[in-house]
Amino acid sequence: MHRYFRLSLVAAALGFLAQGAVADQVNVICSAQADWCNMISTVYARTTGTKINVTMKGSGEALAQIIAEKENPKTDVWFGGTGDPHLQAAEQNLSLEYKSPTLPQLHPWAQQQAQQSGYRTVGIYSGPLGFGYNTELLAKKKLPVPSSWADLLKPEYKGDIQVANPASSGTAYTMIATLVQLMGEDKAFEYLKALHRNVGQYTRQGTGPIKAVARGETAVSISFVHDGPGEKLHGFPVETITPKEGTGAEIGSMSIIKGARNLAAAKKFYEWALTPSAQEMGAAAKQYQLPSNVATKIDPLVPDFKKIKFINYDYAKYGASAERKRLIAKWEKDVNSLPR
Ligand code: F6P
Repeated sequence: MHRYFRLSLVAAALGFLAQGAVADQVNVICSAQADWCNMISTVYARTTGTKINVTMKGSGEALAQIIAEKENPKTDVWFGGTGDPHLQAAEQNLSLEYKSPTLPQLHPWAQQQAQQSGYRTVGIYSGPLGFGYNTELLAKKKLPVPSSWADLLKPEYKGDIQVANPASSGTAYTMIATLVQLMGEDKAFEYLKALHRNVGQYTRQGTGPIKAVARGETAVSISFVHDGPGEKLHGFPVETITPKEGTGAEIGSMSIIKGARNLAAAKKFYEWALTPSAQEMGAAAKQYQLPSNVATKIDPLVPDFKKIKFINYDYAKYGASAERKRLIAKWEKDVNSLPR
């Protein structure tokens, strides 16, 4: 009898633990680079005891998954990736309104991202769009460093430029939206058609091109410049530059998914991700975006925004669902269908 009593206590405790484990878990789509996603996952699980399941997807693909899961969401939090598709998710009622008490501690651009979405997303980092280049390959091919959008159209770069596909990559969509704002839509699409002739490959993920630059597979990439220093630290001859006509910047964002099965755990993770110590993990994982919490230590490798010429990027307009869909469809039809 005594033994039976002990066994049932153990069984009850195990049952409780099992339930607890299920209740305290969070499912995250991470649209930052793998090293950062993995670090977050390990540290969060270790320090909070919460089970965290992380899936990695580019911004456009993450949005597609969240749309597909709409009736039965399997994702609780979408961490990182460019802000435009997060705004689109907000507009489509796919993300949850949540006004974090941490908002006042964030940079104005991160708070603005929250306000513009009706508090369904928030800025977690920012980073400028520019070019990456392989110094050795450029020297070997006797090519100059491109310093402007106009330079990329020069015939000598034919086949030596990589950029991602805007349907799957937020980086590439940021490029289209930036060019449209810089040149006007007609000129921007003429530009994109001309650029197409010089593009050797469109990759699925936004970081694909700068990794190809690092490996010496292409001389130039159109990339977020914060992705350059990490490649250099890995020993590759990579430098970055921002175009002299002006450029756009992303507001990397985070959203809680509407209908999240683990809502309490989702909010806990979200608040953790806005703390300076969590945000410092970006640089620890060799990712050099500008963090959104004003108290987060800024690594010296984070690009100096004061030295960059920025356009006044209209995040609300280019994050609107109809506009994003229209521009991507137009790029597919008018640009990507052309021979190279
Ligand atoms: O993780 C690196 C990064 O450049 C982020 O700053 C950005 O949010 C993300 O990639 C965009 O990825 P993608 O273009 O694949 O959507």
